[in-house]
Formats: sequence, C-alpha cells, structure tokens
Amino acid sequence: MPPMSLSERAEALLDAATLPLVLAGDPVLRRPAEPYDGQLPDALLNRLIERMRATMHAAPGVGLAAPQIGLPLRLAVIEDEWDVPAELRRARGRAPQPFRVLINPSYDDAGGRRVAFYEGCLSVPGYQAVVARHERVRLRALDERGRAVDEEIGGWPARIVQHETDHLDGTLYLDRAELRSLASVGTPAQKERWNQPTPRLAAQELGFDLPPSD
Ligand code: NI
Repeated sequence: MPPMSLSERAEALLDAATLPLVLAGDPVLRRPAEPYDGQLPDALLNRLIERMRATMHAAPGVGLAAPQIGLPLRLAVIEDEWDVPAELRRARGRAPQPFRVLINPSYDDAGGRRVAFYEGCLSVPGYQAVVARHERVRLRALDERGRAVDEEIGGWPARIVQHETDHLDGTLYLDRAELRSLASVGTPAQKERWNQPTPRLAAQELGFDLPPSD
C-alpha cells in the first residue's frame, strides 16, 4: 500500500470523533515536519485548524502543533486567554495571546536576553520544568490566509511561539529544560513553585541555574 499523503492523513484524522494527542516517545514528535505548500486544500486546512483549536481548548493548553496530532506538517495554533493574577502577569510578561495560526513558522532571538519559567506540554502529560527562552523573538510565518507574518513578539506569547515552533523541528521543551526543575504536576511542591512569580526559589531549592538577569 502506498504511504498516505498528508491530505489523506488529515482527512482520516478529521473523520474520527476526536483528534488523537500524540505523546513523547512517538517518532512523529522527533522529526522535522514538512513545510506547508498547499498539500491540503483550503477547506480541509480550515477544518483541521478548527479541530486543533477545539482540541487545544479541551486539553486544556495554550498551543498545539500538528505533529502532536500525528500530522508531520509545519502548522500550529496558539491561544492564551487564561486569567492570571496581575502580579504574576507582570513578572512573566504574560500578556493575553489571542487565537492565531502559525504556518511554516520560524523564530530568531530579537532581544539578546533569556528568561526562565516553568513550561508543560500536552505531549508530556503530568510534568513541568523550567526552560530559559528568548525574551523577545522575531517571528516569521504565514497566517491561515497565507499572508506573510514578520513581527517581534515578547513575554509569554514569545515563549508559546518558541515552544510550538520547536515542535515542528522535532524538539520538545524537555530538550531545553533544566532537568533538576522537573516537577510532577498537582503535588503541593509543584503548585507552590508554579504560583511564584519567578523560578528563583525553585532554582535555589532544587539546584539549577537561571539565566543572568539584568
Ligand atoms: Ni508542547
């Protein structure tokens, strides 16, 4: 049997009642995804985007990349409208991120400074770890209508963009994480650390380094 095309795979995924969530250990999360160049007809692409958005909401998560549903395509959706206390919002640069679609995204460092905070991933359920990321990035991508995006993004949205774009390159956040910060989600120790504005205390207590802060 010839291998299924991306378009056939997308159709098969959309035929099911729910999209699968692929977990760490699956090679699809470790291979660079294929650039989008019209492999999916517009209507199919739009249906896929809507289902990815619903899957991200249901999980719940703030981003979902196509390899996470088993589709090796450079496509991701992001959205973060969570209500976060003002103090934490300030400390983490956690501006709301309206829903957006990233097609063929790439990013470059745009600020020269890195910031560290906890991240999790729907493909690595039950854990969080601290990752140092570029504070600002220059994002180049296409949106869902094929329009070119070239913009600078900072704070928490920049973290989400980096995490999701990394998925399309076969990189998981754990590859970049301070492994000594790894925490099981839901434990009192994890909740206490997650609710702090910065991972400074966690770094002291668990014994890992943070990027130098200005
Ligand atoms: Ni992820």
